[in-house]
Amino acid sequence: MSKSVLIIGGSSQIAQAIAYESIKAGVLVSIISRQTRPDNFSKDQLLHWFQDELQTQLSSQQQIGLALEYQPDTIFICNGVLHDAKAMPEKTLLQLDSELLAQRFHSNVTVPAHYLRALYRYLIKTPKVKVLVLSAKVGSITDNALGGWYSYRMTKAALNMLVKNLSIEVARMNKTASIVTIHPGTTDTPLSEPFQKNLPEGQLQTPEQTAKRLLNVGANLRPNKTGKLLNWDASELPF
Ligand SMILES: NC(=O)c1ccc[n+]([C@@H]2O[C@H](COP(=O)([O-])OP(=O)(O)OC[C@H]3O[C@@H](n4cnc5c(N)ncnc54)[C@H](OP(=O)(O)O)[C@@H]3O)[C@@H](O)[C@H]2O)c1
Repeated sequence: MSKSVLIIGGSSQIAQAIAYESIKAGVLVSIISRQTRPDNFSKDQLLHWFQDELQTQLSSQQQIGLALEYQPDTIFICNGVLHDAKAMPEKTLLQLDSELLAQRFHSNVTVPAHYLRALYRYLIKTPKVKVLVLSAKVGSITDNALGGWYSYRMTKAALNMLVKNLSIEVARMNKTASIVTIHPGTTDTPLSEPFQKNLPEGQLQTPEQTAKRLLNVGANLRPNKTGKLLNWDASELPF
């Protein structure tokens, strides 16, 4: 069982549910977010919130350094954007906008890469450390049967490559590390909200259900899975 968890991208509803479930189980929680600590978290002694406005590698490194003082055994990276006030996901290539694609690449790939770099020294020296980076099944090239959602699919596929690459590099120095991407399952958050209408019965999970599933995958994760893209039930998804 985990003793200390670090959650990056703490304003995500899945991230906050992971934090709640962990605190309920008596696990220390450190959170990194661009946002300030919300009021509903203010009284928890087990929770340490570090605001990082993502200005420079050094400023993020400092916040990560503070969070690592709590020696997390499990790290979740939750950053990811599917749509925002500016744009919904593309239905056709004709809707692809270069500037928006660059923004999605930033939030979905560059930011996780920025934090993984800040964590690098910790990952190569910490026995049995586990990292679960939230990706998406739609980032699987093999699984893609529907098309559409160009920016999100492309950036999640790139995220999967980033994590696979890092898992190989870390394994040369730390054979006990487990670094994976994971599809959390369709979860009732602002990210999925516009797309929930036609979902098959039972597919939509609450953030709490998803958090329990992800914590369970984390608890049972072993180095033989490092580099994989996992589903929420720990089964392997194809890249
Ligand atoms: N909900 C689903 O059904 C579903 C399905 C498949 C995959 N996922 C993945 O699961 C993860 C969490 O999703 P969620 O549903 O909890 O989303 P959410 O509530 O919309 O949270 C958004 C997350 O993205 C970060 N973020 C937003 N804009 C950003 C930017 N410009 N730069 C860097 N980070 C930014 C936020 O970090 P801050 O704390 O710094 O604000 C937060 O961690 C995402 O990676 C998502 O792709 C979700």
